[in-house]
Amino acid sequence: MRRPLVAGNWKMHGTRASVDELVQGLLKLEVVPGVDVAVLPVALHIERVISAIESVQVLVGAQNCSVEAQQGAFTGEISAAQLADSQCRMVLVGHSERRQLFQEDDHVISRKFYAAQSYGLTPVLCVGETLEQREAGKTLEVIADQLGNVIRELGIGAFAQAVIAYEPVWAIGTGLTATPEQAQAVHAAIRDQLSSEDGQIGSSIRLLYGGSVKAANAAELFEMPDIDGALVGGASLNADEFGAIIRAAGRK
Ligand code: 13P
Repeated sequence: MRRPLVAGNWKMHGTRASVDELVQGLLKLEVVPGVDVAVLPVALHIERVISAIESVQVLVGAQNCSVEAQQGAFTGEISAAQLADSQCRMVLVGHSERRQLFQEDDHVISRKFYAAQSYGLTPVLCVGETLEQREAGKTLEVIADQLGNVIRELGIGAFAQAVIAYEPVWAIGTGLTATPEQAQAVHAAIRDQLSSEDGQIGSSIRLLYGGSVKAANAAELFEMPDIDGALVGGASLNADEFGAIIRAAGRK
């Protein structure tokens, strides 16, 4: 059985005070057995969050890392080695905001994926189609390409220790969620693609859905057989709302 994972992508939100308040809210949540929980603050707040929730079963991850795995003369970058040194456990790669706003292509994303794994961080590879691509009937083709390019560069074996998040771009921050059936269709295609290369990896990898997930729609998404959790943006900034999503995952 795949263990559900609910991860909160805090994006570029938070001050020290608001992050402390959010963490206090997380500390009050009941632990839901059988569910992994992660939060991904801005890099500046990672150590602060880790030291506050050290004793609790919440993993802390980063939203990005450099293509350069080690230290070096790369002004403004943060390496996977440094994230691992700060006790970070996972890192997002290929989020659509990075693809669209920072021109990250599949090669850059593969390098980041590789850098993360080199230092024991679990990469969470994000894939997703734009509204235009969906309306043109290209959703599965776009996702297969985004995934296929990483498989080609790194080999299927790289997915033995990785998570994939399907985040339709049109559903991110818009309040529009993919229906459970739409999300399931893409998740099943992702799993099939991985399984055709390696059956064990295909059946064991966790596939998260992301895009306007909230307490009100989480349960129906988690009912789908190939949805193993969620990557939550806006709703993860509210501890009670995030807690309700975690509880919904616990009923999976
Ligand atoms: P929202 O939940 O705010 O739509 O964001 C989703 C997302 O991009 C998580 O990575």
